[in-house]
Amino acid sequence: MTTKEVLSKYWKKNLVFTPTPFHKLENISLNLDCNLYCKRDDLTGFAFGGNKVRKMEYLIAEAIAKQADTIVTVGAYQSNFCRVTAAAAAFAGLDVHLVLGGKKGPQPTGNYLLINRLGAHIHKVKSDEWDDWENKRIFLAEDLRKQGRNVYEMPIGGSVPLGALGYVAAFYELLDDFKNFDISPSHIIFASSSGGTHAGLLVGKWLSGWDGQIVGIGAAKTGGKLAVEVGALAKETAALFNGSFTRDDIIVDDNYVGKAYGIPTKECERAIDYFANKEGVFLDRVYSGKAAAGIMDYLQSKKISKKEAVVFIHTGGNVELFS
Ligand SMILES: Cc1ncc(COP(=O)(O)O)c(C=O)c1O
Repeated sequence: MTTKEVLSKYWKKNLVFTPTPFHKLENISLNLDCNLYCKRDDLTGFAFGGNKVRKMEYLIAEAIAKQADTIVTVGAYQSNFCRVTAAAAAFAGLDVHLVLGGKKGPQPTGNYLLINRLGAHIHKVKSDEWDDWENKRIFLAEDLRKQGRNVYEMPIGGSVPLGALGYVAAFYELLDDFKNFDISPSHIIFASSSGGTHAGLLVGKWLSGWDGQIVGIGAAKTGGKLAVEVGALAKETAALFNGSFTRDDIIVDDNYVGKAYGIPTKECERAIDYFANKEGVFLDRVYSGKAAAGIMDYLQSKKISKKEAVVFIHTGGNVELFS
């Protein structure tokens, strides 16, 4: 069975305007003497876009197929995934409950402002720990079921095999982009956090036999934890294609996380200003800004040679700049 045939076995609700744009970052390439291209998944289109929309196409479709009436998910107050989930649930006519944790400012801003406008039911957790948020989600879903709701749960970031399919499909879209631009990139680089984007891309690489490197710049977990999670998710996702996945390919670079998840670094702020001023491309301070800081470091330190074509997937999140 071909990849296309496997993907078509899973119904998705079309939310992404595909293919997303792909272009060379001309000024940055001139300035840093490199060949840097950008896949504009900040422009996936639905509800301010970003990578989460690709995952959501499959997840919301499954919720509808299971005749769910209520979606429950979890994230930080500035969660892009919660913003997209709230919009997709509203679009599908479903109720949505969000468990939100971490720091919150005095006024609703950025993603939290949009979540409020979408009419989501909000359940606050006083903790910075993702495990505490997930536990609250599990209890909440149980409670709603006891009240007679048909609940569909999505874990943090939508990082389950079905969600990761969105990035298996995106990988094939990238192969078309490479063909159209007549390039053979050595690296695809992006921000990685709950691992679904990364796992999907790895399975796409594995299925297609592409021989470049997939590099996730860690935005949250350090110390090898994310690579283990990406490996486990890639294995489960590969199983949907009746394949087995070896872990040799997993590259997570957690040198650009800084103090912690959500806390901007100097290098990230610099990358945001640089991309905005050179290209008119806005990044965010939690994910894409940190990934761009990593790419700039790779290019400036010659970790990647100037001859190689490099692709940055802009995973979106720039709504956060208004937080
Ligand atoms: C803007 C943005 N970029 C990257 C990521 C990382 O994606 P994943 O959670 O699939 O690793 C996220 C996830 O929260 C995100 O919102």
